[in-house]
Amino acid sequence: MTDAQAFITLTDHEKNQQYKLPRIKGSVGPDVVDIRKFYADTGMFTFDPGFTSTGSCESKITFIDGDQGVLMHRGYAIEDLAEKSDFLETAYLLIYGELPSAKAKQDWVKHITYHTMVHEQLIKFFTGFRRDAHPMAVMCGVVGALSAFYHDSTDLHDPHQREVACHRLIAKMPTIAAMAYKYSVGQPFVYPQNSLSYAENFLYMTFSVPAEPYKINPILARAMDRIFLLHADHEQNASTSTVRLASSSQANPFACIAAGIASLWGPAHGGANQAVLEMLMEIGRKENVGEAVKKAKDKSSGFRLMGFGHRVYKNYDPRAKIMKKTCDEVLNELGMRHDPLLEIAIELERIALQDDYFIEKKLYPNVDFYSGIILRAMGFPINTFTTLFALARTAGWVAHWMEQSSEPQMKIGRPRQLYTGPAKRDFVPVEKRG
Ligand code: ACO
Repeated sequence: MTDAQAFITLTDHEKNQQYKLPRIKGSVGPDVVDIRKFYADTGMFTFDPGFTSTGSCESKITFIDGDQGVLMHRGYAIEDLAEKSDFLETAYLLIYGELPSAKAKQDWVKHITYHTMVHEQLIKFFTGFRRDAHPMAVMCGVVGALSAFYHDSTDLHDPHQREVACHRLIAKMPTIAAMAYKYSVGQPFVYPQNSLSYAENFLYMTFSVPAEPYKINPILARAMDRIFLLHADHEQNASTSTVRLASSSQANPFACIAAGIASLWGPAHGGANQAVLEMLMEIGRKENVGEAVKKAKDKSSGFRLMGFGHRVYKNYDPRAKIMKKTCDEVLNELGMRHDPLLEIAIELERIALQDDYFIEKKLYPNVDFYSGIILRAMGFPINTFTTLFALARTAGWVAHWMEQSSEPQMKIGRPRQLYTGPAKRDFVPVEKRG
């Protein structure tokens, strides 16, 4: 919403000139300063590495108030969605903007359910990887390969094709994540079962073997679904921004999602769930927690408390609270209430939240802090954790891709820079170089 009266004035004292910059209001959250004509008007760029103060796009999907610890999808609080909705319904909400009617939900679930199989030839991509390849490497490669399989859903100017690409991506990610796991442990791939829910199907494809029947535990299936829901979207984070930037050139949607997977992999982003577990295992005992906190405060150690801190949240990540509750439910169900890693995590949280360093820097547990403990208890190997995050975040990536692709004037993303390299100089022939 642009208010004709709203602008801020910028004074360039060097040139003794003033510029008026429009101030735009969102529906909630901070106003933004419109700098689209800034370069044309001033001959200067703005400078914001890491985008700490830059809104990269307009979006109606997700809102975060990092100071208050608020997360809403299309206006619905994450707490309400986690309690009353499910992953596929929330994915629908992210993509279409409204909660589905009963009929629309039924159709949506059916579309997803009937796209879960992957092309049989895709198996060759899996078997081309070494067995010890990281599942994120496999997922990134295989999802990228989907771009060579589905030529009928790549025209992003066609709303129907966009929708089919969206169904395919959300439907096939659990199959691909499960296959990446199966390949790494040398077990046969398990085909999806249309009678199962999204989360049940994923557990079934991951943990069942042809030699015996697999019984789905409803508490674990519910927890799996909630973990997916909590990871479904998170505004313009690194991987979502990567998907948006990649697709701004109108690239193949499957390739754009593969770019998002690559970005998510890093330990500063989705890879943190793996890093948290590795850290807890390294700490090893509750008694060592104080030492670990001390080390995390010492910059020269290069060690950070994984699962702590967030670029946007300067308060408790609301997803972490729900994750902790889910963690209790799962460990109770599995008779692992006294899991030593959980005890270390609780002690770490307790000590860190009382420590001036963490208080001053507003570092709180984030979504990844407890998720690894749950996933490990459920039987997932540590190196698969981030593929589960990618599976869930595909809903958000697709929602942002759909939103961006339906903009009437989609612009290619092309940031500028502060150049600090050499100014023009003469080429020196090799024989004259010192
Ligand atoms: N442990 C110790 N110190 C930390 C931590 C941490 N986990 N996180 C931030 N700090 C300190 C930094 O050293 C810095 O101190 P300084 O101001 O004295 O230099 C200050 O807090 C701010 O940190 P930045 O790295 O500048 O903050 P930024 O917003 O760039 O980083 C990030 C956020 C990457 C999440 C960071 O907190 C971190 O590395 N956390 C651990 C990894 C992690 O859990 N990532 C998952 C994020 S959530 C997600 O993607 C799902």
